[in-house]
Amino acid sequence: MTRHTLTLPDAEATLALGARIAALLKAGDAVLLFGDLGAGKTTLARGIIQALTGETDIASPTYTLVQTYTARDGLTLSHADLYRLKSDDELFELGLEEAWTEGAAIIEWPERLGTMAPEDRLEIELAPLGDAGRIANIAAFGRWEGRLDRLEPL
Ligand SMILES: Nc1ncnc2c1ncn2[C@@H]1O[C@H](COP(=O)(O)OP(=O)(O)OP(=O)(O)O)[C@@H](O)[C@H]1O
Ligand SMILES: [Mg+2]
Repeated sequence: MTRHTLTLPDAEATLALGARIAALLKAGDAVLLFGDLGAGKTTLARGIIQALTGETDIASPTYTLVQTYTARDGLTLSHADLYRLKSDDELFELGLEEAWTEGAAIIEWPERLGTMAPEDRLEIELAPLGDAGRIANIAAFGRWEGRLDRLEPL
């Protein structure tokens, strides 16, 4: 496992980190976004989705739990928010394993995945920093190890 830490002074920086991650994303990838309510998880997911699809109006999948997009290069992109997940049955019905096998998946509240969490994954934990900004603690597991060296500098 390899670790990186970044400071994100404002929401624009969170979107920009998303765009940098988007440049690395391909089928088979899972990105797990950890952090409390309001930490910036959806903002980061929006940065990834905007960069890959060009869409700017990206709703949080708060109630739908999963929202699917098609990137410009054809990659299927799933954005999940598991905060309101009610049961393991509901989790299996979402088909997330398929989502991160056949395409790429970005998952908020990934604690809810339990043992379903993939071994090959990029974990990003967002936490408050000072009065306004955020800190991003990034951990790369399995196939993600080494790939972050290609993260574009800001
Ligand atoms: N680096 C940052 N610095 C300051 N504010 C930020 C930063 N990143 C995001 N924000 C702001 O934090 C607020 C909450 O962001 P967001 O909705 O993405 O959080 P979340 O983690 O998805 O929350 P929830 O768990 O409720 O879904 C938004 O107003 C967003 O603009
Ligand atoms: Mg959110």
